[in-house]
Amino acid sequence: MTYRITLIPGDGIGPEITKAATRIIGAAGVDCEWVEHEAGIRAYERTGNPLPPELLDSIRENKVAFKGPLTTLIGEGFPSANVALRKGLDLYANLRPVRSVAGVDSRYEGIDLVIVRENTEDLYSGIEHLVMPGVTQGMKVITSAASIRIARFAFEYAVKRGRKKVTAVHKANIMKLTDGLFLESARIVSADYPGIEFDDKIVDNLAMQLVLNPNQFDVLLLSNLYGDIVSDLCAGLVGGLGMVPAANIGEDYSVFEAVHGSAPDIAGKGIANPTALTFSGVLMLRHLGEDEAADRIIQATFGVLEARKVRTPDLGGSASTQEYADAVIAELG
Ligand code: NAI
Repeated sequence: MTYRITLIPGDGIGPEITKAATRIIGAAGVDCEWVEHEAGIRAYERTGNPLPPELLDSIRENKVAFKGPLTTLIGEGFPSANVALRKGLDLYANLRPVRSVAGVDSRYEGIDLVIVRENTEDLYSGIEHLVMPGVTQGMKVITSAASIRIARFAFEYAVKRGRKKVTAVHKANIMKLTDGLFLESARIVSADYPGIEFDDKIVDNLAMQLVLNPNQFDVLLLSNLYGDIVSDLCAGLVGGLGMVPAANIGEDYSVFEAVHGSAPDIAGKGIANPTALTFSGVLMLRHLGEDEAADRIIQATFGVLEARKVRTPDLGGSASTQEYADAVIAELG
């Protein structure tokens, strides 16, 4: 069968790593018709819109998209196309499995945790205004509907994947209403899942605990901003941003991308690590029911990394993005 998938090469390193990852997926024997669309800076410069409506229509038609990172300018320019995409398609759950990989040096071994990040509200509401010169305000929006929905997603994921514990992360000691509602919603949902342990951590304590003893965590349930920050911290625990995949999941559509951004410091050099995006492709293949191909890609990637011969500079090697992809393809056999 042929899968029609919307492909967004994206900005910066995006085209380099999407090329590598789609080559690997093809070599694993999955027949994909990639329907390519621009977004981000490239689309903005050409059409004045970082998220063209044809792209959203394509995802609505194909249901699944595979996406490179999109640049968002800091402190100026157009609003984030990533945030608009997640809101526009109601991709409410951002799933980010974080795992240690043999052959990738990091501070700890055996890390196997999953971040479940709420993807549609919080300080990412984009509601900001200038009260008067020198005074600005931003709106943190937390609703019980979105909090209950993401908590249920986390517990359902835990049940399906044989996970033991869900930890809700918050700062309800200070933000008693907003984070209080997020925590209370998680508590309410937890009552429906007596087989899954539930606890909670204040976000600053969580940051320290993750650095001291990450293996104590299983599924982390976070609102949007904390989820964003903690994801990068966790990536640092397993070898860096080149290693951690993500899936944006809604009731109707799913968009698969890496945790990392467009990496302007290395863009165009052909040295970005495509592993994170390839693992996002693995999440996509599982979503499509192509578990065998997904398993083969994981095994081939593990094989290449464990052999320590071919790896990109972020992992201490000197291979280019495409040389590394070639090695994974060769390992696929
Ligand atoms: P970044 O994740 O792009 O880069 C941070 C650091 O990690 C850089 O030193 C970069 O070289 C390195 N890095 C990231 N991915 C890598 C890879 N695959 N291989 C090797 N090294 C890698 O974060 P930064 O610099 O804060 O953001 C750059 C742009 O990306 C911004 O415009 C930001 O808004 C956007 N961004 C987009 C995301 C998305 O499309 N989902 C997510 C995060 C940021």
